[in-house]
Amino acid sequence: MSAFAGSNAAPTFSNQPTSAQRGQNVTLNNGVDMPLLGFGVYRSSPEDTLSSVATALDTGYRLIDTAAAYMNEEQVGEAFRASGLNREEVFIESKLWISDYTYDGAHRGFDRSLRKLGMEHVDLYLLHQPAPDEFDRTLGAWKALCEIARSGRARAVGVSNFNEDQLKAAMDLTGIVPAVNQVELHPFFTQGPLTAFHDAHGIATQAWSPIGGVNRYWGDPTPSDDPLTHPDITAIAKAHGKTTAQVILRWHLEMGHAVIPKSVTPSRIRENAALFDFALNEQEVALISQLDTGKRGGPDPKAISTKTYDFQIPD
Ligand SMILES: NC(=O)c1ccc[n+]([C@@H]2O[C@H](COP(=O)([O-])OP(=O)(O)OC[C@H]3O[C@@H](n4cnc5c(N)ncnc54)[C@H](OP(=O)(O)O)[C@@H]3O)[C@@H](O)[C@H]2O)c1
Repeated sequence: MSAFAGSNAAPTFSNQPTSAQRGQNVTLNNGVDMPLLGFGVYRSSPEDTLSSVATALDTGYRLIDTAAAYMNEEQVGEAFRASGLNREEVFIESKLWISDYTYDGAHRGFDRSLRKLGMEHVDLYLLHQPAPDEFDRTLGAWKALCEIARSGRARAVGVSNFNEDQLKAAMDLTGIVPAVNQVELHPFFTQGPLTAFHDAHGIATQAWSPIGGVNRYWGDPTPSDDPLTHPDITAIAKAHGKTTAQVILRWHLEMGHAVIPKSVTPSRIRENAALFDFALNEQEVALISQLDTGKRGGPDPKAISTKTYDFQIPD
């Protein structure tokens, strides 16, 4: 298995971390540095995406996670350009939606994302979901992503929501190890076996719904579905003079996970970025890890179907 380090056609990018960011990046399996803290925009309207990405970049976030299916790639590009930051200073990731799975469809979907973002490359490009009912199409798309990475138009490629068997199949087909698997991961769903597989194969773990947001999509969660109100996390937060969201995000960093919290609320956007002035001790990390319920909020990767998610991405 190989990563893309030294692949022939890839252009070089400076993307050196600033002194403020040093220690706040993970080096992916192809040598590309990725910020551990990023900003998510799922379920953010185009207007909210414009304003929240502007606030995030102003706050110091240097990674934005979008997707073709979020219908806000244009606004991510627009907010980036309005920030005045250089392209090499911001890590942009997007995802291919399953309606574009197949080898040719993936190339078309990638070109469409670049056009909407108004960019010549992305830093990370992911397959958004496995489609186990038509896994050949998923693998065809993965093959296309590997080529896109070789061309340099995506500095790294990876997957999202893949389980161990699906990761193995993608790796066996191409001999290429995904740089990242972005998966649901929070104190109530800690994904121990999957993250151990990632560690064994050099795949970076990026946590979606890092503070348990998936259980807020349809209204306020019950306490048993909300790590933000759990008494153990509340006690740890009190001891550090931090909020429960900050403690949970810091737990992820202590565990080696990259995080992409989402918020459209400026005070929360700033709160979620204030993670690098404290640390949790081993006992605190272990206590939070024990809160795992084994219950996911999102779909099981084995059960995702192209028929359930049959919408198309408009040009
Ligand atoms: N690959 C995938 O399949 C997949 C699936 C889901 C998500 N994602 C990515 O992961 C990102 C984050 O996941 P997510 O949006 O599901 O969940 P999340 O980041 O865990 O939580 C977001 C929710 O929590 C609220 N919130 C944010 N900060 C808070 C704070 N400090 N205190 C209290 N509440 C707070 C937000 O409300 P307000 O916005 O109202 O402030 C929002 O309702 C997404 O935006 C997306 O980029 C990927």
